[in-house]
Amino acid sequence: MVDRTNRDESQPLSDLDQWEDDLRRRYPEPANKLAPNSAKVKEEFRDYRAETKPEVAEFYRLNHRYQTVDFVRAKREEYLSLSKRQMGLWDGLEFLNTLVDSSDPDTSLAQIEHLLQTAEAIRRDGHPRWFILTGLIHDFGKVLCLFGEPQWAVVGDTFPVGCAWSDKIVFHEYLADNPDSQVPDYQTPCGIYEAGCGLDNVMLSWGHDEYMYHVVKDYLPKEALYMIRYHSFYPGHREGAYDHLLNAEDRKYLNAVRAFNPYDLYTKAAERPDVEKLRPFYEELWNEFFPPQLAF
Ligand SMILES: [Fe+2]
Repeated sequence: MVDRTNRDESQPLSDLDQWEDDLRRRYPEPANKLAPNSAKVKEEFRDYRAETKPEVAEFYRLNHRYQTVDFVRAKREEYLSLSKRQMGLWDGLEFLNTLVDSSDPDTSLAQIEHLLQTAEAIRRDGHPRWFILTGLIHDFGKVLCLFGEPQWAVVGDTFPVGCAWSDKIVFHEYLADNPDSQVPDYQTPCGIYEAGCGLDNVMLSWGHDEYMYHVVKDYLPKEALYMIRYHSFYPGHREGAYDHLLNAEDRKYLNAVRAFNPYDLYTKAAERPDVEKLRPFYEELWNEFFPPQLAF
């Protein structure tokens, strides 16, 4: 039986989209899309803390308090055997759709519509088919919420655990309450890792990115896998932090994550996609790369 009181405290966001709304506020769409850093210059001196909604700040407080090395190891152990559920495209989308925001059903797009909008924007720009498919499925890992995970263990900007935290992490001051702050081995620049070891050897805070990467890692090209695995790693792909842990392959493929990021953040249109009309195209696309069912 679910304890309502505790549940509310652990779920400060009205829905998962609230985190993404806050990302758009922190990383506003540049006027000139070809020079994405130009808006940053203007925004540089804004204090995001003062402008953050209290429930979003509380979400980050919980995320930073509880994402420890031990927590991430436990969740990897629990989920990465992919033995929770088998899902195809449509049952996956429909399952994910049960996450729709109940507090504001008129203005909030269902997850299925947001994913289709992202994929359609990529398709309109003439990108390869694997890129379109990546747009469609990149957030499927949010099903973690439906497996009972709290919001702070599903979404949120990700960051390495087991080494010193970058001050580029949003609300990094909340990390002072993380028990790993008391573990000296975790507080050096490289911590439990080696310099230049590559992100594949680094554990990021647990969430929907890493989970979905493991679901699809045998089926998509490396660019797509980087997009899926690191799209929430804002300290890395937007802020340039943790360069000392990257290898040459990361530096190359983080460019793919940067190419994907505008589609993830800025394609939320009010116009609803025609789900039934698009369905055959996306079923064919799924079948081109994936078996009928993927193991989650
Ligand atoms: Fe995402």
